[in-house]
Amino acid sequence: MNDRLKIAINTGGGDAPGLNAVIYAVTMAAERRGWEVYGIHTGYKGLLDTDLITRLTPEKVCGIVSLGGTILGTTNKGDPFNMPVKNAVGDVECRDVSGKILSNFKRLGLDVLIAVGGDGSLRLAHRFAQLGMPIIGVPKTIDNDLASTLVTFGFDTAVTTSTEAIDKLHSTASAHQRVMVVEVMGRYAGWIALNSGISGSADVILVPEIPFTMESVCEKIMDNELHGKDYGIVVVAEGAKALGGQMITKGAGEEGRQEVLLGGIGEWVAKEIHKRTGKDTRSLVLGHLQRGGSPTTFDRLIALRFGAAAVRFIAEGQRNVMVANQPPTMVPVPLAEAAEKMKSVPLDSDSILTARDLGISFGDE
Ligand code: F6P
Repeated sequence: MNDRLKIAINTGGGDAPGLNAVIYAVTMAAERRGWEVYGIHTGYKGLLDTDLITRLTPEKVCGIVSLGGTILGTTNKGDPFNMPVKNAVGDVECRDVSGKILSNFKRLGLDVLIAVGGDGSLRLAHRFAQLGMPIIGVPKTIDNDLASTLVTFGFDTAVTTSTEAIDKLHSTASAHQRVMVVEVMGRYAGWIALNSGISGSADVILVPEIPFTMESVCEKIMDNELHGKDYGIVVVAEGAKALGGQMITKGAGEEGRQEVLLGGIGEWVAKEIHKRTGKDTRSLVLGHLQRGGSPTTFDRLIALRFGAAAVRFIAEGQRNVMVANQPPTMVPVPLAEAAEKMKSVPLDSDSILTARDLGISFGDE
């Protein structure tokens, strides 16, 4: 094997706190081995327009570990197998540009791409691996919904931000004797809602894994009143749905977007609570605040470990695997499996049992 490898790194999908820590660790660990690292900007776009490639050096990445976002930029509209591009008359049409990306990768003499992303980005990485681009995947998502890894970086920061927001809602809810309904992210999994809801002492937590009824939610709110608590906090995951109902979505979102946009359930729940209990109720959507800001210590550390492990795996000759956190170590799992299984909250998980023991309602009893 060539001892002076040229490795590339890109970040895809929604950003998550810790992306820059991965970029830092990859750069430093590769430099120590005498390899070159190239940052590919905006997902795979940098391999279409190669002006969007930067040589990453220790000087370039100095001080980025604590920064949110990603110095490489990202996109969740950049499927190279179906990329929206303007044609000669200015209309947008979708084209397969994967061949161009692959040939640029080879022409630049790159040996391996470290693809940092969630399920969508890891699926794309797997398709490129099948076309012959050597890949190491690194799992990223605030949703924590990838089954092959215990945690993804970004999740802890999102939960911390949500918990802080819920903490702040207690005083205003109490002052006005209101019910505050806060909608958090997580897509089809309830991890953020569950962890921040328990930590923030919510009265009700609604998650996609447990369909709820409004009767049960309102019963909990009214039960609070009987016990002298005249306000309530409800945490709703964006993917939660009423028993027999549908997830509320905002449709397909922008052109070229790979996944449907979720959102709106918090407002619906708030209106129903007001209608059924007469209580003053307000809703808010935490939204992208959960993806912003500096990564927590936990996320920095796990992101640095993911990045360093990716480089170690390359050195060991691993290809087309994703770095998975299976404590106490990082292990390689085949890319083909990495994004396929979603990790939902198990109904018998200790956190669910704990929440029930604390008197928190999931709107199902
Ligand atoms: O997957 C991460 C995530 O933040 C989800 O929790 C959320 O549904 C989605 O991305 C939002 O995407 P966008 O940034 O396109 O609004």
